Amino acid sequence: MGRIDKLIGEMTLAEKLGQLTMTASSYTVTGPVIAGDSTDAIRAGTIGNLLNMVGPGPVHEMQRLAVEESRLGIPLLIGLDIIHGHSTLFPIPLAEAAVFDPATWTLTAREAAREGAADGLAMTFAPMLDVSRDPRWGRTAEGSGEDPWLATLIARSKVLGFQGEDLAAADTLAACAKHFCAYSPVAGGREYASVDISERTLREVHLPAFEAAVRAGVVSVMPAFTDLAGLPMTCHTGLLRDYLRGQLGFEGVIVSDYNAIAELIKHGVAEDLADAAARALSAGVDIDMMSDAYRRGLPVALERGTASLAQIDTAVRRVLTLKERLGLFDDPYRRGSTPEAAGTTAQRRALARSVAARSIVLLKNDGAALPLAAALRNIAVVGPLAAATGEMRGPWWAAGTEEMNVNVVDGLRAALPGVEIRHAAGTTIEGDDRSGIAAAVAACEGAGAIVLCLGEAAVMSGEAASRADPGLPGQQRALAEAVAAHARAHRVPLIGVLFSGRPLVIPWLAEQSDALVAAWFLGCEAGNALADVLTGTVSPSGRTPMSWPRSVGQVPVFFGQRPTGRPADPKDKFTSKYLDVANDPLYPFGHGLTYGQVTIDKLGVSAATIQPGQTITVSVALTNIGRRAAEETVFLFTRDKVASVARPLLELRGFAKITLAPGASGVVHLPLSANDLRFLGPDLEPVFEPGEVEVLAGPCADRAQLLATTIVLE
Ligand code: BGC
Repeated sequence: MGRIDKLIGEMTLAEKLGQLTMTASSYTVTGPVIAGDSTDAIRAGTIGNLLNMVGPGPVHEMQRLAVEESRLGIPLLIGLDIIHGHSTLFPIPLAEAAVFDPATWTLTAREAAREGAADGLAMTFAPMLDVSRDPRWGRTAEGSGEDPWLATLIARSKVLGFQGEDLAAADTLAACAKHFCAYSPVAGGREYASVDISERTLREVHLPAFEAAVRAGVVSVMPAFTDLAGLPMTCHTGLLRDYLRGQLGFEGVIVSDYNAIAELIKHGVAEDLADAAARALSAGVDIDMMSDAYRRGLPVALERGTASLAQIDTAVRRVLTLKERLGLFDDPYRRGSTPEAAGTTAQRRALARSVAARSIVLLKNDGAALPLAAALRNIAVVGPLAAATGEMRGPWWAAGTEEMNVNVVDGLRAALPGVEIRHAAGTTIEGDDRSGIAAAVAACEGAGAIVLCLGEAAVMSGEAASRADPGLPGQQRALAEAVAAHARAHRVPLIGVLFSGRPLVIPWLAEQSDALVAAWFLGCEAGNALADVLTGTVSPSGRTPMSWPRSVGQVPVFFGQRPTGRPADPKDKFTSKYLDVANDPLYPFGHGLTYGQVTIDKLGVSAATIQPGQTITVSVALTNIGRRAAEETVFLFTRDKVASVARPLLELRGFAKITLAPGASGVVHLPLSANDLRFLGPDLEPVFEPGEVEVLAGPCADRAQLLATTIVLE
């Protein structure tokens, strides 16, 4: 008999339920000490898993209670939300998606895992794979934006990065694909609200990334808080048991979201805790995070006959198997036993700086306002986000402290020691105070350029951070207008730098500024990375992974929309359009300028026909006609014009990058596989439908900027 079967044979019901329970330890980053009660429960073997701890000391101390003082000595599984770095904070996931580079996505996850594991942890609740087309939803910040295919690449890259090559190694973490599934299309963009989408959208948009994570070997999955058409994901038998476990063959651990099992009562599908616990268990949820529904409810459910010991044993086996695969039985202290060398930490920070610089998206750059002219002697850096050190962290900071971050003022001062950099906040991020605006305008007096740093506070995105009006909060617009008026009057370039966990709705600011930069939340090296780009040390290369609306009323606005029978026609009223705003976004998916100027000259395909199973090569020739080097990103799309079920106007199939010196030309080659042209037919079964397929390539999802050709699928 193997170790796990032997243990299960010896365990009491209370000990089994302990293995199915995860509670917050109080050795949190800022929290008080662990409750005596939990300490006793760990000793008694009735709490088997913890979340929210940092530091090898506290982690090992808790582990010691389980391993040395509990009857069976089963190690704890200890996890934390390591979302965009552990202590070294990388850009938020939405920002990092803008890099469009799978190797980088893997590398930052690998580094986050190394750093988290060195702190004693064995699990992260990441990657977040929710495809978001609604910037009102705060958790947009945690994902990769609007495109489902992009999300599959992120899924794979992140799982490989976190879990490494050997899950038992001292520097790996168990990854957790979340939130399964379709959490993002909450009604009205309001956090935790009900979701009601078609089966087709579920399968085409929301499930592919989870499938990719499972194929990449992810060892745990977290169901979403939300319901789908009345069935909460935490007890969704059809999706958890039949699809995830049955169809995809997922054998890992399903861990509930925070208190989600108990919330089945408020969802209106469970009578009491025992009912909620029985439902979650029977759908396949192994670990109850924070609601204590399994420990308190399952004994009652067993008596009622609504849960069985066999179900409990199956869940316990999965949890113990994960602990075994993580090497926790062999050496529960392996992670966190060797402090990292200073050089390792320094290298990681350097990586954070370069990834942050590559995440920055240059949205607008009229009159070459950027990079800042080398001759400048005086720059005004104003706005409530200019010196907001703590905000640079973004919404999930794990063990990252406020002080570890570099703000924009400090970044620019370090980069430009000979330049006078004046700073005034002007106003607060939120609130009604306009009293500092005059001083901010005064700080701009005599400046050769104005860098206006605006946006959201870090906690205005992430969980429980929906915004009905995702523009600039507080009095920032008043500040911006005053500063813009000054800039216009004095003919000084106005450079807007926007911090946010989502595309903001700021058409007026786009209008009034000469240059506009999406800085998202860039992590600990934010200010240095921004200085790199603003000064031109690094040429900007980020591309927005989400469309920027002109108006909240356009939401959802995304490139993968389906056609309409009445395409917009300005001459015909009875066509699909708004009376008061254009249909297209302010900035489309993929948009992002460089300091060069790259033209897309030619599009070629290696074959004019393609058959199932085949791959052709799409070649795109480009030239940098600008005066500075540029890293250009080319996106490949297809459009199936006639199909049994209308296909989206554009479907993303690939992207490639090329660096071009001024005047240089080059060609990128992108594979296009016929298998990608398969889609779900009228009865939701995958089909190939022969016929013409448009192949399009260019710098973003704006159709007018794409070159197109046609191939035939045979
Ligand atoms: C969030 C999860 C997170 C969990 C644990 C929940 O509130 O929805 O994404 O992993 O807390 O911190």
